[in-house]
Amino acid sequence: MVKLIKNIKELIQVREPNISKISGKELKILPTIKNAFLVIKDDVILDYGAMHELKEIETDEVIDATGKLVLPTWCDSHTHIVFAGNREQEFVDRINGLSYEDIANRGGGILNSAKKLQDISEDELYEQSITRVKDVMQLGTGAIEIKSGYGLTTEAELKMLRVAKRIKEAFPVEVKTTFLGAHALPKAYKDNKTAYIDKVIDEMLPLVAKEELAEYIDVFCERGYFSLEDTERIMKAGQQYGIIPKIHVNQFNAFGGVALGVTYNALSVDHLEELNQEDIEALKSSNTMPVALPSCSYFLSIPYTPARQIIDAGLPIALATDYNPGSTPSGNMNFVVSTACIKMKMTPEEAINAATINGAYAMGIENTHGSITKGKKANLIITKEVPSYNYLPYAFGSNHIDAVYIKGEKI
Ligand code: NIG
Ligand code: FE
Repeated sequence: MVKLIKNIKELIQVREPNISKISGKELKILPTIKNAFLVIKDDVILDYGAMHELKEIETDEVIDATGKLVLPTWCDSHTHIVFAGNREQEFVDRINGLSYEDIANRGGGILNSAKKLQDISEDELYEQSITRVKDVMQLGTGAIEIKSGYGLTTEAELKMLRVAKRIKEAFPVEVKTTFLGAHALPKAYKDNKTAYIDKVIDEMLPLVAKEELAEYIDVFCERGYFSLEDTERIMKAGQQYGIIPKIHVNQFNAFGGVALGVTYNALSVDHLEELNQEDIEALKSSNTMPVALPSCSYFLSIPYTPARQIIDAGLPIALATDYNPGSTPSGNMNFVVSTACIKMKMTPEEAINAATINGAYAMGIENTHGSITKGKKANLIITKEVPSYNYLPYAFGSNHIDAVYIKGEKI
């Protein structure tokens, strides 16, 4: 099946040869071709170029993109999209003055979501989750990472990861899965955290590995959740199975999680709302991608990740949603890109690079996703008629997407 998209006003994020990630000053550069064409063959990008270079080709379908932009679909490298129910009551409680911490301390928060998830069947969890997956695909997301962590029992953690695996098999969106058994301490282990970590390591992880349910391992490394020592034990255990870390660090407190992640070759360190100079230094000598989650900062009214400090230190940065029922009930990458520009002072070029190729890197798919590169997956957003790519983050809150193609198929 050959599809030709012609008369593209501007083809965005063209990388030939491919690039694995973009850092520092380079982030300000977003290569494009004006008045372009692009050819899709089955599920990949076969060719592209300027319209005047287009040769006679046989096609099954021609799409006219006059006045429209084409860019790679978003790569959302951090989500908890598999969850049960919602937490809108906690949202109201926070409006009325309780903090995220207060809510967690009285047994709400992650434990509230875990209870809901433990109580429903795998099929029901799948049904609830695919509603959100379909929604984010329409919003231009072509790849997502999905974490467990709302199970907190062996059975429920496996249930979550099996649902994620079913999503991977049933939908064209690229899915990478992460085992986050250490997301919160279940009530039953309130006075015995070590026993819960033992369970994560000795009972859950071997089963996750045996069923090949997770590519990555995560820990919520945070005061009141899991310490540096806990995080290290879990990352070490993951290493035994060849599962590399992608960890939650520095959401509320900076106490060395970034450097620890780097020591264990973490693919990414995510959140970083609190960041100090030692964290920056640790990242400088690493291949670890810092990931910012601006929708989480927006929703919880906590600081935004200091993107300028990260970029000005010559580092790369990726943007993701953190889609989850507690801190970010939104999987909209368009909003993430806008918010990064508006609140984190990232330029549109930086934000688009961070949400495409750097997002792909943060989930280990930079060779197949995240840019317009021959042979990569034909994962494309065709916008409505817009003046320029700057308009996408500028006119925030409106839907600028006309069509989404994932693996060459229109969604
Ligand atoms: O990434 N920070 C930890 N985990 C999620 C939120 C958890 C929740 O409140 O349900 C996050 O923000
Ligand atoms: Fe998260």
